[in-house]
This record gives sequence, structure tokens and C-alpha cells, in this order.
Amino acid sequence: MPIPNRTLNDGNSLPAIGFGTYQLHGDDGTASVLSAIESGYRLIDTALNYENEAEVGQAIRSSGLDRSELIITSKLPGRFHGEGKTREGFMESLENLGLDYLDLFLIHWPLPRIDKYLQTWIELIQLKSEGLIRSVGVSNFTRSHLEKIISESGVVPAVNQIELHPHFPQAEMRKLHGELGIQTESWTPLARQRSVLQNPVIVAVSDAHNVTPAQAVLRWHIQLGTIPLPKSSQRDRQEENLNIFDFELSEIEMDQISGLESGRLWGGDPDTNEEF
Ligand SMILES: NC(=O)c1ccc[n+]([C@@H]2O[C@H](COP(=O)([O-])OP(=O)(O)OC[C@H]3O[C@@H](n4cnc5c(N)ncnc54)[C@H](OP(=O)(O)O)[C@@H]3O)[C@@H](O)[C@H]2O)c1
Repeated sequence: MPIPNRTLNDGNSLPAIGFGTYQLHGDDGTASVLSAIESGYRLIDTALNYENEAEVGQAIRSSGLDRSELIITSKLPGRFHGEGKTREGFMESLENLGLDYLDLFLIHWPLPRIDKYLQTWIELIQLKSEGLIRSVGVSNFTRSHLEKIISESGVVPAVNQIELHPHFPQAEMRKLHGELGIQTESWTPLARQRSVLQNPVIVAVSDAHNVTPAQAVLRWHIQLGTIPLPKSSQRDRQEENLNIFDFELSEIEMDQISGLESGRLWGGDPDTNEEF
């Protein structure tokens, strides 16, 4: 089944599901990203702090695909926040990947204590105007962070990539994104596989559709309108996770899965979490 697209507020579009690369390293990491591309993923999510941009770049070159067929995302860490620094961090990502532009570049965390995310955002807009980035966005931004950058810059991020899974469905942020025209991306969409895939509610929903628990959870993301970014090192699971476009969950099943809310996985509160 072809992967549908989501149109962004800047006119660009993203596939409805992407591939997460956190913790994929070395030759095995390159092989996993390559098998994901061969399985059909076109949206690839990395970050400077994942220390695997070189592996992602190698997989892109090995795939033999035209650059224009792939949508590559990376993220700027805290040590590069602020005027002058942002460009340096972005250029480091570009060099690691061996690319001459990025499709989507995000501020990884807002780091409100150091309070430089607004200047950082303005620099990202400048890099976009130079054609080095196709779409600019943020990650782990809350309402107050979003309101500040939008009111000060007049530019609405195309994407906010946030923690989102059945234990943390983020109803409020999804509603806000809908109002502002921001596309939600879900990180840890499978809750890193912890209890969620064994949860009796998820197992019952997946059994009812003759799919796996991971497929039921990823389908829930699709029907919420978010873009899930599942990571798997294994080709069979990569293919399984893409195979979610030929069944539909009922409203009751959607509510049952959203009803599993219990909180963040590890306490990554955007107001206090610091990642440099
Ligand atoms: N913006 C941010 O701050 C942020 C933070 C965290 C993550 N992210 C992004 O989000 C992506 C996804 O998050 P994540 O990697 O933390 O967790 P995840 O995608 O929720 O879960 C990955 C785990 O699930 C397993 N898995 C994958 N498919 C499976 C299947 N079909 N059946 C059973 N198990 C399966 C994987 O194992 P195997 O590999 O062994 O298959 C791995 O252990 C990351 O890779 C990264 O790109 C962003």
C-alpha cells in the first residue's frame, strides 16, 4: 500500500509515517537504515546528538535513490542554541550527513532555562530562506514556547515532534497543533516497546483486526493524524510497522487505546529537561 502524505503549513509534505534512528550505530546501524529505505520508508529521523548522522548519510548513498525521493530530518542540540551558533550546528549536521540541504530541521529541546530558543528559531528561518532547509520546526515545545516564537517571529513551525504514545496521548498538544496548523510528529510511538505492546487492550484490538500490537498502535497514530517515527533495527519489524494502511480502527477502539494514558515514559518534561 502506498504511504499517504501530510501537507505542512509551508506547502511541503511529509509521509504519514517515518523511520526513527535513535540508537542505530556503526555498520549495523547503516544496514538498518538502508533496509528501512528499501522497505519503503522515505522520511528518516535523526539528530546531531544521536551521533549517527554519518551512518544515515551512508545508508542514503547506498540506497541509490535520488536525493529528492528522501525526506531527511535532523535536530539541533542545546549547545548550538543562540545567535551565530545555530548555523554552526546545522552545518555540522549537514556535513555529517554528506548532504547539501535538509528537508526538515528541528530545535531538539527548548531549554527555557538558557532561554535562547527564540534566537535559535530566527536563525532557522534565515537558513530556510537561504534554501538550506526546506521546512523548519521544533521538538518538545509546549504551548508557551510555541506562542513565544510565533508571536515574535510571525512564523509558525511546520512540525512539533513530541513524546506521544498510548501511555501519553497528548490530547491538549494535538488540539493546539490543530488550531495553529502545526503537524504533530510522535516520538517513541511504540513507547519503546515496554509494556504497551503486551497491554490487554492493545492485544484485543490487534486480534480483532488480525494485525500485530505494534501495527494497532501505529494505526492509532495515523488515525489521530500524527506522524509516528517507529525505530526498529530489524527488517521484518520495519516492514510490519509500515503495513498499516489496509485496516481501520473504530472510534471505540481509538478511545480504548487513548484511555491507556498514564504519563511520560521517563520524565522528559520540556520545561526542565536539558540536553546539550
Ligand atoms: N525529539 C525527541 O526528543 C525524541 C526523543 C526520543 C525519540 N525520538 C525519535 O523517535 C524515534 C522512535 O522512538 P524510540 O526509538 O525511542 O522508540 P519506539 O520507536 O517507540 O520503540 C523502539 C523499540 O520498539 C521495538 N520495536 C519496533 N518495532 C517493533 C515491532 N513491530 N514489534 C515489537 N517491537 C518493536 C524496537 O526494537 P528493535 O529495534 O529490536 O526492533 C525498539 O526496542 C527515535 O528513534 C527518534 O528518531 C525523538
